[in-house]
Amino acid sequence: MSMTEVTQDIQTVVQKDEEAVTTRVDEILESYTGIKAELIPILQQVQQAFGYLPEEAMSRIAKFVDVPECTVFGTATFYTQFKFVPTGRNIIKVCRGTGCYVKGSPRILEEVEKVLGIKDGETTPDLEYTLETVACFGSCALAPVMVVNDRVYGRITTDKVKKILDRKDQH
Ligand code: FES
Repeated sequence: MSMTEVTQDIQTVVQKDEEAVTTRVDEILESYTGIKAELIPILQQVQQAFGYLPEEAMSRIAKFVDVPECTVFGTATFYTQFKFVPTGRNIIKVCRGTGCYVKGSPRILEEVEKVLGIKDGETTPDLEYTLETVACFGSCALAPVMVVNDRVYGRITTDKVKKILDRKDQH
């Protein structure tokens, strides 16, 4: 395959992805009327559908609620709940609260970073895992705590980290 053909192939894939995004966004927008007050609920629903806010979606939404695109970006960046890059299928959260810190959470975080090869806030290239840290899960009695999707793992040790992350089927 020539370089030109490879480039055309990549362009086709990107184009198809963009089409899929706009089609899904348009479906979501059908249940709204287009008033500015709907901006946050729309952003929430779009993020729910894709796991993040794709760039193509932002211009679509801006047109729909009739505000400049920078206003949509500005609103979305104000709220920490919104993400602008794809997240992994599995979200790993390590607690960095005081209760967990004194019980060794920095070592847990280091081990997760080592096993996954990513840092806090990053996603693995295969989109399998996203690593995040949180201030406290409210389960300090179980410190140190790590959460994989909705599953809470308490009194975690560095030895357990790899075993847990290897059991993808149980997440
Ligand atoms: S400090 Fe980690 S759960 Fe509270």
